[in-house]
Amino acid sequence: MQTPVYLDYNATTPLDERVLEAMMPYLQGKFGNPSSSAHWFGWQAVAAVELARKRVAECIGATDPQEIIFTSGATESVNLALRGVADIAGSGHIISVATEHKAVLDTLSYLQRKGFSVTLLAVDEYGLIDMTELESAFRSDTLLVSVMHANNETGTINDIASIGAVCRERGVLFHTDATQSVGKYPFNVLDMNVDFASFTAHKMYGSKGSGVLYLRKCFPRIAIEPLLMGGGQEFGLRSGTHNVAGIVGLQKALELCTSAMSEESLKCRDLRDGLYTRLLQEIPSIELNGVPINDPRHMPGTLNISFPGVLSSLMMSGINDVAMSAASACGTSDGSYSHVLRAMNVGDVRGESAIRISVGRYTTNDEINYAAGQLVAQYQSLADVRVA
Ligand SMILES: Cc1ncc(COP(=O)(O)O)c(C=O)c1O
Repeated sequence: MQTPVYLDYNATTPLDERVLEAMMPYLQGKFGNPSSSAHWFGWQAVAAVELARKRVAECIGATDPQEIIFTSGATESVNLALRGVADIAGSGHIISVATEHKAVLDTLSYLQRKGFSVTLLAVDEYGLIDMTELESAFRSDTLLVSVMHANNETGTINDIASIGAVCRERGVLFHTDATQSVGKYPFNVLDMNVDFASFTAHKMYGSKGSGVLYLRKCFPRIAIEPLLMGGGQEFGLRSGTHNVAGIVGLQKALELCTSAMSEESLKCRDLRDGLYTRLLQEIPSIELNGVPINDPRHMPGTLNISFPGVLSSLMMSGINDVAMSAASACGTSDGSYSHVLRAMNVGDVRGESAIRISVGRYTTNDEINYAAGQLVAQYQSLADVRVA
């Protein structure tokens, strides 16, 4: 076994060799610009992008490849959906949830500053919303609902199909941030009644800087304002020269994930459960954050646990060769604990001692055993400084 051990797959995943292999030709010989319609280099590039569009659409159950818009990642996709809808409407109300990723929450704060009204639904101790609260949050001017599929910190899975059905019934647009689920958990845009879905290649063994916004094609057309203007790429919704290698990689990564999904999720579940069981045996006071571990609404590879009385930063500072996370990778620098755990009302002691461990394709039993040993040893070594 090699160290350091990587147990932070929810932050980002390693690039799969097979994905890199698919990308390489588009970084070297096939370097054309898909917008160069006058020559072979451009035709080759546009063919690769259009094939990727078709294959990505198939993987998520989209009926038309034109429903796939390539972006630079999930943050951009989220911004395009939320700000795109808001820009067209000019004013109105948006419903979302307190446990969303900052890509959604910060975009909503921006829209609030621009005069939009935002309702953030509360969650229960497991991170789940109450459907009756959602139903009563609708107003006559509600434009959009945005609820993530799987939470990046706790792995809590929302019932997107039911939320989507409620929105569809009311004629309100529905966006889901599916960054943590696409490729790892069944996700089908039709079954889930979504109008928009955001996801990214680097959470499924593709490269960073490549993402997708799914935008449902229907009549009348769902109109959104682009964020980026220029060459008119991506049906005029996302100008800028395509990241051809990144797009081809995203396609390959998603196809590989889709075909291996059942076996990989079982493997991740076993590894995660093994780690949890071992930790629980040795430190019976640990607390699980999120829905119960064996509940199907818990992402198979995610484990968020609190080590009572020990700050997560202290816990992790003594373990240099296991990569884990104290909160989401994007939110760890502000000194306070996770907004997700805060919304779940876990209390300060538990929130400040929470560690997220996430496993994936390359995680081994040896790595899990090693990480468990390190965590237990570190916890025991901190016996004197633990807060009762
Ligand atoms: C739930 C969720 N949404 C959005 C993002 C942002 O994705 P990207 O890094 O592709 O912009 C992340 C990444 O951490 C995430 O976990």
